[in-house]
Amino acid sequence: MLHDLLPNAVDFDTRIAGKNTHLLILKNDRGVTVALSDFGARIVSLLVPDRQGLLTDVVLGFPTIRGYTDAAEQYHGATIGRFANRIAGGKFTLDGQTHTIEPNHGPNALHGGENGFHRQVWDRRVNYLQQADFYYVSASGEAGFPGKLAVRVKYRLTDNNELIISYRAETTEPTVINLTNHAYFNLNGEGNGDVLGHLARINADHYLPVDQAQIPTGAVASVANTPFDFRKAKTIGRDIGQPHDQLTPHGGYDHTYVLNTGPGPSASIVSPDTGICLEVFTNEPGLQFYTGNALDGADFGKQGKPYKQYGAFCLEAQHFPDSPNQPKFPSTQLLPGETFQSETTYRFSVMKAMGRMPDW
Ligand code: BGC
Repeated sequence: MLHDLLPNAVDFDTRIAGKNTHLLILKNDRGVTVALSDFGARIVSLLVPDRQGLLTDVVLGFPTIRGYTDAAEQYHGATIGRFANRIAGGKFTLDGQTHTIEPNHGPNALHGGENGFHRQVWDRRVNYLQQADFYYVSASGEAGFPGKLAVRVKYRLTDNNELIISYRAETTEPTVINLTNHAYFNLNGEGNGDVLGHLARINADHYLPVDQAQIPTGAVASVANTPFDFRKAKTIGRDIGQPHDQLTPHGGYDHTYVLNTGPGPSASIVSPDTGICLEVFTNEPGLQFYTGNALDGADFGKQGKPYKQYGAFCLEAQHFPDSPNQPKFPSTQLLPGETFQSETTYRFSVMKAMGRMPDW
């Protein structure tokens, strides 16, 4: 199956910037298969069964490594760091010293800068059938961030069809850190139209409004009576076109939800067509819900189909954007001697008949 989707799988066994890259395959007894590349410690494919038991690749991506190195959208499936999301003006102050990250998204630094973790070739020391660990040491001053940072990203595929991503990092000097994964999901299968008909639920009473440059204003707004309310399931498309000063300028959802705590998933999304359901669990305080507003058809995916606006959604578990400049947000500082740890689980299941699911 993977061979059908990635006939050039060997193409991923190459060298980038003098380092070897490979395609690794994790697989469980139920046929769920995850393909990972050490270029960006990224998810290349994720095959899960649909209602008919047919394995469906639910993650957008490319059939060749060059697809990734040359793509218009650079973040497909990748580990994002050292600082996921935006830092206003690319500047922040730590212990009285100002640090500058070169802006790569309008006036702001986005996703760790132009050559963030997504463009690095990670090392790999552990690779079992259901687990792969990637390592990267980010030099002090890399992209402008202080402190040498040693990072480990562990992917584990369970027999319960969960992909668990755990992050761990240590630094030699005070620094800031925000790690996430940037998989673009389409539960109808990558390249198969848009996700506007997917039903979504997000366990959040609040979200973070942003300014024109997508920096949080500092307000924590209620989702009640706004298009941002996903506390009860609704389709992604139901309110996406509503005139709203937070939606219209950004062409859709591209906002951090302030997750409620407590049991149960932080978000659940299901495709009524395939029955494939994705639930996200995380110990991060925020979830960036992004509806692929900027996908513009420039990239062609694994089936050769163009990736267009709303052709996918991202659920990026992370701390809040621009936290280094917003003292009221949960801290993203990491000090020497501390260990940064966070974990996000993507759990897949199938809904046999939508109408019979009481929660939906
Ligand atoms: C951001 C979007 C951005 C995208 C880039 C998302 O995490 O929130 O604004 O366009 O990443 O791929």
